[in-house]
Amino acid sequence: MSNINEVRKPEHQIDTLFYERWSPRAMTGEEISNETLNQLFEAARWAPSCFNEQPWNFLYAKKDSEDWGLFLKILVEVNQLWAKNASVLIACISKKTFTRNGKPNGTHSFDAGAAWQNLALQAYSLGWSAHGMAGVDYKKGKVDLKIPEDYQLEMMIAVGKQAEVSILPEDFKKKEWPPSGRKSINDFVQKGQWK
Ligand SMILES: Cc1cc2nc3c(=O)[nH]c(=O)nc-3n(C[C@H](O)[C@H](O)[C@H](O)COP(=O)(O)O)c2cc1C
Repeated sequence: MSNINEVRKPEHQIDTLFYERWSPRAMTGEEISNETLNQLFEAARWAPSCFNEQPWNFLYAKKDSEDWGLFLKILVEVNQLWAKNASVLIACISKKTFTRNGKPNGTHSFDAGAAWQNLALQAYSLGWSAHGMAGVDYKKGKVDLKIPEDYQLEMMIAVGKQAEVSILPEDFKKKEWPPSGRKSINDFVQKGQWK
């Protein structure tokens, strides 16, 4: 297994955590402390949001806790196969309306996305991995987690310590390494109007 810096190279100099963070599926399942978990939520807490609404909410279940099975079953089967070895599963939820006036908040998902990214980067900088999942039974998640009407389940997040690729089921082994690359800046940035 090569070093991540050999397979992911930035085009311009940036903080290393942006490209060293990635989404492994092989996780050890070791216990995550409440303090570490709170550090992840603390990072999420400082995300920017429209009118500082902070529409993000998180529910979590640590591995082998009372709610673990409930959370795991919300994932589609293909995600359950590897996420069963996460240390904690987190549901990322957003509030669809502004608390200040009850009007629809057009950026609730966008802002929850910023919070998730903060959480993922903090996890990386603490030596943990956070792997987002939209492969989720959203209807089941909303019901089973008792998410209120005005809130939306955005994604599930598996957090764990990276494990050896060999622990993964065969189909996942090939996909695990090397981590994905990215488009070039020129492919998504334009000067002036859309061309
Ligand atoms: C919103 C979202 C949904 C995702 N859904 C899944 C998923 O259901 N299963 C999975 O294995 N990975 C999932 N991923 C992980 C992406 O495939 C991964 O982030 C992407 O390929 C980029 O790779 P990297 O995170 O390693 O840089 C998801 C990521 C995001 C942000």
